[in-house]
Amino acid sequence: MAEKFDVCVVGSGPGGYVAAIRAAQLGKKTAIVEREALGGVCLNIGCIPSKAMITAGHFLQRMQHDAPTMGFQLPKEIKVDMKVLQDWKQSVCNKMSGGVAQLLKGNSVTVIMGEGTFTSPKSLSVKGKDGTKTIEATNFIIATGSRPIEIPGFTIDEKDVLSSTGVLALAEKVERICVIGGGYIGLEIGSYMRSFGSEVTVVEAASGLLNGLADPDCVQVVARKLKKSGVEVMLSAKAKGWKKAKGGLEVTVDVGGKEQLIKCDKILLTVGRKPNSDGAGLKNIGLEIDQKGFIKVNAQRRTNLPGVFAIGDVAGQPMLAHKASHEGVMVAEIIGGANRVYDAKTVPAVIFVDPEIASAGLMESECKAAGKTDLKIGKFPFGANGRAVSMMETDGFIKIIADAKTHVVYGVHIVGPEASNLISEAALAIEMGARLEDIALTIHPHPTLGETMMEAAEAAMGHAIHIIQRPLTSAKGASAST
Ligand code: NAI
Repeated sequence: MAEKFDVCVVGSGPGGYVAAIRAAQLGKKTAIVEREALGGVCLNIGCIPSKAMITAGHFLQRMQHDAPTMGFQLPKEIKVDMKVLQDWKQSVCNKMSGGVAQLLKGNSVTVIMGEGTFTSPKSLSVKGKDGTKTIEATNFIIATGSRPIEIPGFTIDEKDVLSSTGVLALAEKVERICVIGGGYIGLEIGSYMRSFGSEVTVVEAASGLLNGLADPDCVQVVARKLKKSGVEVMLSAKAKGWKKAKGGLEVTVDVGGKEQLIKCDKILLTVGRKPNSDGAGLKNIGLEIDQKGFIKVNAQRRTNLPGVFAIGDVAGQPMLAHKASHEGVMVAEIIGGANRVYDAKTVPAVIFVDPEIASAGLMESECKAAGKTDLKIGKFPFGANGRAVSMMETDGFIKIIADAKTHVVYGVHIVGPEASNLISEAALAIEMGARLEDIALTIHPHPTLGETMMEAAEAAMGHAIHIIQRPLTSAKGASAST
């Protein structure tokens, strides 16, 4: 006998579980199907564990480099028990995943653990530990996520060639790691491994790190710091293959037509992720999938099949958890009768490197490509911010890009301390169509890193207080566009 639901969500990552909770809040009889762990990649083997490791790495670095300046007398070599670190990291994940379980239970969502396969657009067969059951639902929300891409010559075995999952689970220090791909994951993980003393070589095929993924000025700050910390970066370098060699592994890299060999103990492959659209019987039920493997959806995240929605990584770029959650809430509300469409002006993005990079809205190059050529750009350094100085975290800046005439903010790019927490103000500003004056005339508390945002807006208008800018002729000139 089939179990019947109003809504069945397939996949319990930040897209799926959020959709299920909202659907249940709206009074829908809701089920969620998960084959691995509640919370998906993000909570169990992605965002959360990597942030735990990054926090630990940052903490260690601060003990080594900043604490002595503040008068702390610590041993020269601070020992790290990697096993204890692993256990702590796992406890963080367990807490988060357990929290999702509680929320689902508290909202009366039926959790079904097992591998789901569609047998029709209205029916899903779930193979679990206790056998197979059939779920029928008026609406299905597909939130099956993504997985790492492999490239020729590199097959992830989680022994020699690791994905982020494998590397995050290591309970021992790796002496030498070769990171293939200088994008989001490669740099986040490469940076924290360097903090723990690994020799890190990053092999990036493009001519720059985080190529096209972040403001080039922000990337420069991070690239400089990576170099200072001892991370070896190879640009315009294509990883070709690897083999076991004496005392470890040897990766072959093509740099401008010339072969180079990198000796290492492990390889981390982070060359992008692909949508999980090839399983779950999705193709058998006639679901339309594009050439890149994303499920085709419209602005309401409806697929070509009535009553079947898709959200998150499987439904298109950007592959970011918060975009998935936003879609999850929206789709649940559409099923609940609301008339909503996806019309976010910006999906802020954060790269948890050192210092953090965060952005909302357009980069300069994107403004120009969109024909927005008359721009005002203001930049304010954290070095001139009292809170940053007192934190000993002065690398970086906030850059604001706005229309030169209307002062409407197009983009905000941050590299520096707490960029991840500071960017939400920028996202709000862009969503609200704010002008430079809206940010500059909002009183920001002192002493905080947030003042940097206010001063960057002032800088765009040519009159930041805490950096030297050309003198103003009159107060009227100071707010010329209003
Ligand atoms: P990515 O797309 O960020 O970077 C992949 C890099 O690999 C690119 O720079 C590419 O040029 C390079 N590459 C490709 N083939 C290569 C080869 N043969 N040799 C050398 N380099 C090569 O992909 P990544 O880091 O795997 O991350 C996947 C996705 O996960 C991201 O796009 C992001 O959406 C998400 N993510 C988000 C995070 C966050 O929000 N903080 C953190 C981690 C991942």
